[in-house]
Amino acid sequence: MSEQEMTAKKRIFSGIQPTGVFTLGNYIGAVRNWGALQDAYESIYCIVDLHAITVMQEPAKLRANTMRAYALMLACGIDPKKSVAFIQSHNPNHAELSWVLSCSTMFGELNRMTQFKDKSARHADNINAGLFTYPVLMAADILAYNADLVPIGADQKQHLELARNIAVRFNQRFGDTFTVPEPYMPKTGARLMSLQDPTKKMSKSDENVNACVFILDDKDTILRKFRRAVTDSESEVCYREGKDGINNLMTIYGCVTGKTMDEITAEFAGKGYGDFKTAVGEAVADHLAPVRSEFERLSADKAYLNECIAIGSEQAYRMTRKILSKVYRRVGFTDRK
Ligand code: TYM
Repeated sequence: MSEQEMTAKKRIFSGIQPTGVFTLGNYIGAVRNWGALQDAYESIYCIVDLHAITVMQEPAKLRANTMRAYALMLACGIDPKKSVAFIQSHNPNHAELSWVLSCSTMFGELNRMTQFKDKSARHADNINAGLFTYPVLMAADILAYNADLVPIGADQKQHLELARNIAVRFNQRFGDTFTVPEPYMPKTGARLMSLQDPTKKMSKSDENVNACVFILDDKDTILRKFRRAVTDSESEVCYREGKDGINNLMTIYGCVTGKTMDEITAEFAGKGYGDFKTAVGEAVADHLAPVRSEFERLSADKAYLNECIAIGSEQAYRMTRKILSKVYRRVGFTDRK
């Protein structure tokens, strides 16, 4: 891409944690949109390993999971020739900016973050300072690139709102420095729910293995998880308040087939939930099959992955250094001679 093309396009930034195989929620809510947006925007995508250590990680596992997450990101359609694709800890500018921004973030703001409250309840033996300041690092990720748009699922909206507030506050105090980013959420699928408790978000960390579909699950596993999905005592496939399980399955089916809710209702009129669940499982498995095979192909080519990671980190570093220097001047740090 030429320099001119790059500056004419708006910028996108997003990230994902390397804490396990991506879920169907990660994929539909965020990652598949990253690929779809990379032609229209100058895109920067990263595996956020710094964020991952806010909960206990086994070092060897984190290293392996980070490499796998990078390969998965490419398998989901991110083309390192079109997008900057890298690993967060390879660009020290994120952590540097995070410190400066933490001095423009109020304790009370962080204390209101629902994800902090959820995670501290789940990890009561490890409520570390990083878990608390996690959203500041996320703001630094985004603001370091002056991103215009951030494709995320609904659960990250509060963090994005905080990043916007930090940007506005910094700009007011030190002069126009940061672009105030907008969230980009899909119209449907921004919050996929657990297959076992459809009032809860589908999450990697769910203890019930049937609650969550992982994008590398094989077809039989996917079918089994959907067949066991919790629904309700009625038998009509229609999108209606109170039918959380069916609503979630219809959303998933719509996202992978492109069908509207009315079309789905018509397709399954007179059929039972059993047929519907099997159809959703089949459609998801078919949709994910190319991602799985692309992941296998990429995983076998470590040299290619390492080369992409090195190029991505270098690009990310260069893009952020200029912004960081500007920030340092604005806050009054002396020049490094
Ligand atoms: P993470 O790793 O938890 O999730 C990655 C993306 O997947 C979305 N997502 C979902 N979407 C729909 N339904 C679900 N059930 C579901 N579960 C997860 C998330 O909203 C997210 O977009 N803090 C972020 C990572 C991050 C980041 C950033 C994102 C770090 N820095 C800067 C954007 C910009 C996180 O933990 O996402």
